[in-house]
Amino acid sequence: MNDKNTLTITQPDDWHVHVRDGDMLAGVVNFTARQFGRAIIMPNLAPPITNAQAAREYRVRILAAVDNQHDFTPLMTCYLTDNIDPGEIETGFADGVFTACKLYPAGATTNSDHGVTDIGKIANVLETMQRIGMPLLVHGEVTDGDIDIFDREAVFIDRIMSKITRDFPALKIVFEHITTKQAVAFVQESGTNIAATITPHHLVYNRSAMFEGGIRPHLYCLPIAKREVHRLALRTAATSGSAKFFLGTDSAPHSVGAKQSACGCAGVFNAPFALESYAATFEQENALDKLEGFASIYGPRFYGLEPNKRKIVLERTEIEIPKTLDITDTQIIPFHSGERLNWRFVGLV
Ligand code: NCD
Ligand code: ZN
Repeated sequence: MNDKNTLTITQPDDWHVHVRDGDMLAGVVNFTARQFGRAIIMPNLAPPITNAQAAREYRVRILAAVDNQHDFTPLMTCYLTDNIDPGEIETGFADGVFTACKLYPAGATTNSDHGVTDIGKIANVLETMQRIGMPLLVHGEVTDGDIDIFDREAVFIDRIMSKITRDFPALKIVFEHITTKQAVAFVQESGTNIAATITPHHLVYNRSAMFEGGIRPHLYCLPIAKREVHRLALRTAATSGSAKFFLGTDSAPHSVGAKQSACGCAGVFNAPFALESYAATFEQENALDKLEGFASIYGPRFYGLEPNKRKIVLERTEIEIPKTLDITDTQIIPFHSGERLNWRFVGLV
């Protein structure tokens, strides 16, 4: 039933999430598992997940941490390095261990030191992935210190992304957590094998908000939020009904101490109220009827999977987001900390 106050949609999936490992994993993964049927699990652990055996073991640890009441499927990814073995990737994909590979340019973000230093070094891997239809998930930022941090995504498109799509025209690519109007345009102008995820937070705030009244470390993530014109382009893309744009939270928890530090970590912890945040944005854009496509249909379509069979319900009720959450033995500040949102995730039906 969909009336003014209730929204029943196919259960969404999260096509980009960091659930970490160890105590942190146990503390955060159920926020994702209670809302989403499946999730693409990012492999940037220390050390990263670079082979099928490590992915299998990580999947076991994730499932052990998920409450029995949730029917949740983690979809594993392989972290690409300069020396990654294409045979390992092909076998891992054929065996159903790996759903995709993640490209982190070396030094671009949290735990990316083992990432790729030169795209030329993984040409054989990209060739293999193109042949077997395995998606490449891209953190799209150049890492050159002389490129302004706010320009790194746009420069990545010109220097790297356009080259990958030229050299591997049939490769399936997800441009992850896009933050610029240039990325929106690039994806729109590309073929159906190119899509993008959009986070809740990049739809909500721009770069000025990171400095409103003082520095706000909990809004710091990578890619960093850009100018308002870019945020508006993302909102238009997400709510447009185009199947090229779908949900990926990039929920990236760090302890409060790691964020509020002289050199704070990048990452926004948005998993606890992810659907509430997206629903608020879609309502503001008068596009609640487009939420199901974005959250539940276009992602599986791109990955060649069926949408979830289950439905979830959101109801129009004001909720207050906790200022902080106690996660195992630490505290994490959630996205929308202390704010009110108009929609509440009720659960599965
Ligand atoms: C992510 C993390 O903390 O793992 N941080 C972030 O700001 N998004 C890494 C990433 O996806 O860039
Ligand atoms: Zn991420």
